[in-house]
Amino acid sequence: TAIQFDTFGLAPFIKEHEYEELKPQLALAQKLLFEKKGAGAAYTDWLNWASNFDPAEEAKILQLAKKVQSESKVLVVIGIGGSYLGGKMALEFMRSPWYNDLAEEDQTKVYFAGNQMSSMALTQLLRVIGDADFSVNVISKSGQTTEAALAFRFFKEELVKRYGQAGAAKRIIATTDAKQGTLRAETEAAGYDNLVVPNDIGGRFSVLTAVGLLPLAVAGIDIKALLAGAAAAETLYSEKKLEENPALQYAASRRILYDKGYTTEILANWEPSLQYFAEWWKQLMGESEGKNQKGIYPTSANYSTDLHSFGQYIQEGRRDLFETVVRLDQVAEDLAIPKLEGNEDGLAYLEGKTLNEVNQTAADGVALAHIDGGVPNMAVRLAKQDEYSLGELIYFFEMSVAISGYLFAINPFNQPGVEAYKTAMFALLGKPGYEDETKRYQDRLNR
Ligand code: PA5
Repeated sequence: TAIQFDTFGLAPFIKEHEYEELKPQLALAQKLLFEKKGAGAAYTDWLNWASNFDPAEEAKILQLAKKVQSESKVLVVIGIGGSYLGGKMALEFMRSPWYNDLAEEDQTKVYFAGNQMSSMALTQLLRVIGDADFSVNVISKSGQTTEAALAFRFFKEELVKRYGQAGAAKRIIATTDAKQGTLRAETEAAGYDNLVVPNDIGGRFSVLTAVGLLPLAVAGIDIKALLAGAAAAETLYSEKKLEENPALQYAASRRILYDKGYTTEILANWEPSLQYFAEWWKQLMGESEGKNQKGIYPTSANYSTDLHSFGQYIQEGRRDLFETVVRLDQVAEDLAIPKLEGNEDGLAYLEGKTLNEVNQTAADGVALAHIDGGVPNMAVRLAKQDEYSLGELIYFFEMSVAISGYLFAINPFNQPGVEAYKTAMFALLGKPGYEDETKRYQDRLNR
């Protein structure tokens, strides 16, 4: 296996019999999931997606990626939530948060847009692109999400300005539902290249579909290996019982902790390339579990940066936190600590070590300090930072949250709460169809 689930830091907080007591519920959750009898079962095709991946789809993604690479210096990926977080997280995990700055002359840069509605961000991104040739991959499962549709409008206008109507259409790839939505209708009418978001996979579970795979292929990431890692994970983490199934052990540990009042989970990392992994994970966990006034609140910490910020809270604040650390046991590039004459900076004791050794030792030390401070601690350890490991890691968390959702007796695959903000926003913007609500919301603002 590419990952190891390390429960060393749980020993003071969870006793063996507590896992035993949870076994019947875990077995039931697995049965509901694999027999597709649980809530939201219509959205569980991610379960065997990687092992059944259609070679024709893979070939189409690779062909479109090649087209983008040959025509454009920049790909703008437009999407929000599950329609961008997986791609961005995997790009940064596999390459770097500075991928665009480090890109070679022959590499296509990848920027993300439409994940907010900031006019500043959009203006600045257009400035960053400058006069470089660019293509757009607009991603929306529903095909009618305001943030993405608005950003698409601006980039379409820019494409038309540069390449004319027909030229613009040739630089757009739409990733959307096969049949429904405004974006599908526009795609058919304008003849955009397009890829399908499978109907039976929700946005936050869609990173291994065309949603994540096209932008990753454009950045030269090995999507075959990514899918292979996830396919292997299907055997490792799905139907096996608790003793031999780390994804189940993770779900069970979180649930036992939650029942004891540990209601906030911090996903921590020690590498900036994992910062967006946590953003992806927060959506996966929060949007899946946070229902019916239940669920673990997902948050994240970037170490050692945040040890000098809210690390104080983690160590000594309210004791309702637990921590899951994603650890890379090896890094691709390491640096020997420079040897200097004398010891003016007091760091001579570190000579002979590498920077990563110091980072790893700090991670060990922080885990011990947090355990001593009353913060239960788990680690998901990766031997390598490669596509295969990432595929396995993605599946590990997807499986855990599905099981966890059924333990909470909620539907882990819907997101009804996401509509509330949209109703208020549309009513205030005067969207047709929201007339009745408009006055109600306006009166509250004009109090
Ligand atoms: O997980 C989800 O379903 C959501 O977060 C969606 O991904 C997000 O709202 C974007 O939706 P869409 O892809 O329909 O534009």
